Amino acid sequence: MKKVHPAVVGAQPFQLAEHRPVERLFEDAEGRDRLEKSLSRYPEKKGALLPMLAYAQERNGWLSPEAMEEIAEALDLTPAYVRSVATFYTMYAKRPVGRYWIQVCTCISCHVNRGEEVFESFLEHTGTRAGEVSEDGRYTVIEAECLGACGFATVVQVNDRYFENVTPETVPEVLAQLEPGEPEA
Ligand code: FES
Repeated sequence: MKKVHPAVVGAQPFQLAEHRPVERLFEDAEGRDRLEKSLSRYPEKKGALLPMLAYAQERNGWLSPEAMEEIAEALDLTPAYVRSVATFYTMYAKRPVGRYWIQVCTCISCHVNRGEEVFESFLEHTGTRAGEVSEDGRYTVIEAECLGACGFATVVQVNDRYFENVTPETVPEVLAQLEPGEPEA
């Protein structure tokens, strides 16, 4: 039997477990520094849009309308344009999510490898319904389209980490690995 394991290659460094949900983005040195560094990499301000959306999610945990407006202003774009880009990508949360945002792929390869059962198992073990934040603020579980690791179905993304070969039975093992300091199973 395949053993569930975190993917070797980390995903983007956003969606960390610790968020500062009410902070504005560019009013302190940290935010301004991120903005300036990002702007320096592109010929047009618009090029920094995706990195700044990622930064907002990293800092706030989700993309609030206020954050999108702040980004629009910083990049000389309209809020409507920023929102249209943000809503195109499922990797950006458009509403608050739990500390651990669990995205279960149920696309074709994962579908034939019990993806829906894995999804149901996560709901059961986190005590949540699809898309809601658990009472303790720890978990949000959603279904995701193909996560691009089809050879390792079922694939689950938790914040910035991929877990591969997940089965309904190994869901508790994945959850146990989320907290820092927890021994790897
Ligand atoms: S179908 Fe699940 S990762 Fe591609």
